[in-house]
Amino acid sequence: MCGIIGVAGSAGGTREVLLDGLANLEYRGYDSAGIAVDGGASRERNAAARGGIDVAKKEGELSALRRALVGETIDGSVGIGHTRWSTHGPPSDRNAHPHTDGAGRVAVVHNGIIENHESLRTELEAKGVAFSSDTDSEVVPHLIAEALARGADPEAAFREAVSRLDGSYALAAIVEGAGAIFAARHDSPLVLGIGDGANYLASDVPAFLEHTRDVVYLEDGEFAVLTADAWRVEDASGEPVEKEVQTVEWSAEQTGKSGYDHFMLKEIHEQPKALRGCLRGRVDELDGCVAVEGLDGLEAPAEVQFVACGTSYHAALYGAYLLGDAGVATAAYLASEYATSQPPLSPDTLVVGITQSGETADTLSALRKARGRGAETLALTNVVGSTAARECDHVMHLRAGPEIGVAATKTFSSQLVGLNLLIEELLPDASRGDVRELVSALRDLPAQVQEVLDDSRAADVVDEYFGAKSFFFVGRGVHYPVALEGALKFKEITYEHAEGFAAGELKHGPLALVTAETPVFAVVTGDGENARKTIGNVKEVEARDAPVVVVTDGVSDAAMYADSVLEIPAVHERTAPVLANVQLQLVAYHMAARLGRAIDKPRNLAKSVTVE
Ligand code: G6P
Repeated sequence: MCGIIGVAGSAGGTREVLLDGLANLEYRGYDSAGIAVDGGASRERNAAARGGIDVAKKEGELSALRRALVGETIDGSVGIGHTRWSTHGPPSDRNAHPHTDGAGRVAVVHNGIIENHESLRTELEAKGVAFSSDTDSEVVPHLIAEALARGADPEAAFREAVSRLDGSYALAAIVEGAGAIFAARHDSPLVLGIGDGANYLASDVPAFLEHTRDVVYLEDGEFAVLTADAWRVEDASGEPVEKEVQTVEWSAEQTGKSGYDHFMLKEIHEQPKALRGCLRGRVDELDGCVAVEGLDGLEAPAEVQFVACGTSYHAALYGAYLLGDAGVATAAYLASEYATSQPPLSPDTLVVGITQSGETADTLSALRKARGRGAETLALTNVVGSTAARECDHVMHLRAGPEIGVAATKTFSSQLVGLNLLIEELLPDASRGDVRELVSALRDLPAQVQEVLDDSRAADVVDEYFGAKSFFFVGRGVHYPVALEGALKFKEITYEHAEGFAAGELKHGPLALVTAETPVFAVVTGDGENARKTIGNVKEVEARDAPVVVVTDGVSDAAMYADSVLEIPAVHERTAPVLANVQLQLVAYHMAARLGRAIDKPRNLAKSVTVE
């Protein structure tokens, strides 16, 4: 999704800060990038020339923007930058942000969607304003310029423009000669970075993490003004808002690649550490009990509804399976469908939003709808200070560390572990079996993940099935979400056709697609009923000549019916999905690497999708 960076620094030289900030935001997914600077060198240069703010923007990778800037003296003491993920108008130089007014005195970057942009555009065009892009965002600099022309000062002009907007926005604007950045937030995240001699603003903390870890999260309806040595936040009516400066734990180093070819591979290998982070201080091995900080006041719910998207939805399906097993009424909803489903809510319903970023618009909207209907809400998220974390009644943090690769990996594993902890905290009898057994299974899991990472044959399996037509993934019970997640990861980063199915559903349709050219990955652990039935399904596809890869712990004889085997240790039923999923992450990664795909930034996808 679109990324925003801004810097107000007294010493000039903001250009590199902006470009580095955009590079740090690349992981969000984008199709064009740009910067606008004012003051310092840029001001002197422009005073002698045409006047106005310097803007450089390019379709494509950030490297295209950097190339365009070679030999250019563009720089300034305040600046804003943007990576765009197209919503209104195709990716192109002209549609890239920042957008300016006709005279080039105002530059604006915007995340979100201005819903009334058409009427604003018609109104402005009727007054003779010429537009130079197809975007909804361009109305904003023109509205600011109009107010400036009527004599408003830059801050008042910005506020006036914002007051005309409907929709969602994180906005940052600079006005020639003002020496400040003006920002506003409504339904799209913005965070300030408080530095020494410079202040920053971004859609996401990693953008400025090498400069400061002191941050201030803006809330909906708030405005901010940043200069090199001051910052302030005000509400919609202009009243000052006292804001807490928080220090984020993530370091700039954690958001680097640490020698791995891709962030995704680094994050796959970080899973043992991420899981230890999630468990730390939350399980008592002596007593065999679980205590999640901040949740002790939460009553056991009579019903739980999960809302989530993408990979997080697969975690929700797993969570629903655990709760169902514990006899609690539960359902997992795709967040984008939740509003239409309108499931009945009782006073004892807890609505749990699972969201790595805490910023996914569909999930936030579902949570808001649930709250609006009187439900208690809880966010299971990885990002401290995220919108979901701040808006929900309760929050549990995953503590997986920053995830940069667009394809979620370590955060999915952490979500599965986090759900076990959450459910034990809410319903101490949920494990039905021995809680100590579960606690010890969770404690052993990080080392078992390491074992799988060290011994995986995923790269060989990829060699065997390279060039196949389609890839199917099947599983039952707790392994059904793993099958869905295995297929999602595979299609996201390889661009090959992949589908996940409940193993039992194969015969009800998908079997028509199964041929000798469609490898089927089946997850089979233990030797219970689910394993026996899945082996039956494996035989069905084998009889249609499909190559079969089983991910198994070797407890059943599933391997006998397989062409290839990916082994995992025999573990607790609830932790086996984490291990099986690690094998499938590696399959997806190695296939994508062999195909030369843009693994960390798959085409058309974004890490955090902030539009519905
Ligand atoms: C995007 C990402 C997915 C992610 C989904 C939900 O589509 O590309 O990887 O699973 O959003 O994100 P969330 O941050 O809410 O977990």
